[in-house]
Amino acid sequence: AEATRLLDALRAKYEADAPHKTFVTEFNNIVFGEGDPCARLMFVGEAPGAEEDRTGRPFVGRAGALLDKMIVAMGLKRESVYIANVLKTRPVDNATPTPSEVAACAPYLWEQIRIVSPEAIVTLGLPASQCLLKTTEPMGKLRATWAVFRCSDGREIPVMPTYHPAFLLRAYTPENRAKVWSDLQMVMERLG
Ligand code: URA
Repeated sequence: AEATRLLDALRAKYEADAPHKTFVTEFNNIVFGEGDPCARLMFVGEAPGAEEDRTGRPFVGRAGALLDKMIVAMGLKRESVYIANVLKTRPVDNATPTPSEVAACAPYLWEQIRIVSPEAIVTLGLPASQCLLKTTEPMGKLRATWAVFRCSDGREIPVMPTYHPAFLLRAYTPENRAKVWSDLQMVMERLG
């Protein structure tokens, strides 16, 4: 209940601050994030796409359908994890968020992470992975290895970067699927 209240308050603060106003000209809905406010596992993506912008919910388009499959394959339920993005509004033409856009929105994600306080975070794709880990390393270097996100309160949360489901959809090869599955298995082992 406390986490729900804190997330609601953070959402209200995001809406009042409207950091996206400095860079997004058109969007329909803010996609703040959803799921269990006390989730043991959190997924972080890059930014809402068209379907997310239409519904106000994260990962509900084609990439979202694949993420749902990944969550179920892990033996979890979508409602039992927490899903958020670095940017809360859809970039024009689904452009990759620029460093200044990420800088404007990241503080709200840091607060979301601190409030949910998950036991592990899976970052989906390069922009989310680089944002959380404050690195410019490529995905091939980042995935398959545990990294750490340090919350403002000093808490350290293990982070597993993996490929974005939208990338998997574009390159649905046995190799890429095996890589993501192996990353997710490391997460399952950690969660027990
Ligand atoms: N891609 C993302 O990174 N986030 C979403 O919410 C949907 C697609």
